[in-house]
Amino acid sequence: MRIGLLTGGGDSPAMNAAIRAVVRKACSLGYEVLGFNDGWRGPIDGKHVKLTPASVSGVLFRGGTMLGTSRTNPFKIDGAVDKIKKNLAEHKIDALIAMGGDDTLGTAHKLAAYGVKVVGIPQTIDNDLAETDYAIGYDTALNIVTECLDRLHTTAESHRRVMVVEIMGRDAGWLALLGGIAGGADVILIPEVQFDIEWVCSRLTERMKSGKTFSVVAVSEGAKPIELQSQLAQTEKTDAFGHIRLGGIGQFLSEEIERLTGLESRVTVLGHLQRGGLPTAQDRILATRFGVKAVEMVQAGEFDHMVCLKGHEITSVPLEKAVKRARTVDMKLYEMSKLFD
Ligand code: F6P
Repeated sequence: MRIGLLTGGGDSPAMNAAIRAVVRKACSLGYEVLGFNDGWRGPIDGKHVKLTPASVSGVLFRGGTMLGTSRTNPFKIDGAVDKIKKNLAEHKIDALIAMGGDDTLGTAHKLAAYGVKVVGIPQTIDNDLAETDYAIGYDTALNIVTECLDRLHTTAESHRRVMVVEIMGRDAGWLALLGGIAGGADVILIPEVQFDIEWVCSRLTERMKSGKTFSVVAVSEGAKPIELQSQLAQTEKTDAFGHIRLGGIGQFLSEEIERLTGLESRVTVLGHLQRGGLPTAQDRILATRFGVKAVEMVQAGEFDHMVCLKGHEITSVPLEKAVKRARTVDMKLYEMSKLFD
């Protein structure tokens, strides 16, 4: 048995831990593993590397992905699906494991209809994949957001300022909401709930009147002010999956806060810092369990499925269900967060 493995989409810490687990489990069964480079670009171009227990030694704690990644969409490139099929056949790949978010796994599911035997591993700091409680990378990013909010608190307090913190997550507010709760943000703004800038300003002025000298605002990059009715983007261009590059809401909000309240404000865009560096223990363990389970699914012939976490149990779901809709925040948690405004 020969397994192909690729990593796609935005990277995140602990992808290497999952690669290592796939290789170790596969080799324990006498299988071979070929890693394809740079997301779906790898199987299109046939660019690959042989993965062995020796080549994955020492990667457990390394962020990013040793295979490289990209946002390549084979369904937007003429002839790419045929090339993938040809390259998989040429390299005698019996099954392909694809690790990524909704774009990578949505592509995997579409390729299954073309006869490609795929298993998915959920990986995204946004944690927006349906049918799994957690995706690889989210826990690490959440810890980074929390630490940044802690750090911004002390400087906000010293200068008696409003610190606006722009947090990743695309159309899902998991990182902003849970990071905001863990990091004690005073106002949390998420894509799932449109917000009114005047309401934000009145919250901030009330806090100041009640004796608080500073505030921290956690705003998701995809949050929409009622006044604008849309998300803010860094550029008009979209990626191969049609996503705009979000960004700018933090700066916009910070300027509006200063203009409407007279309070001094600063913005911090956490950006790709949220995706880099060492994975947490939680992410390393999840990635290891996911990697092992993915190989077991290959062994059992459970294709067009994704490994997932339900409660404490590692199990599997059809890819179709996982990519059908984005998993947005639990509104009960959002309501609870307002207690701490
Ligand atoms: O999907 C993960 C993510 O980090 C989003 O939170 C963010 O909007 C996007 O990727 C950024 O993508 P890129 O790395 O292509 O700028």
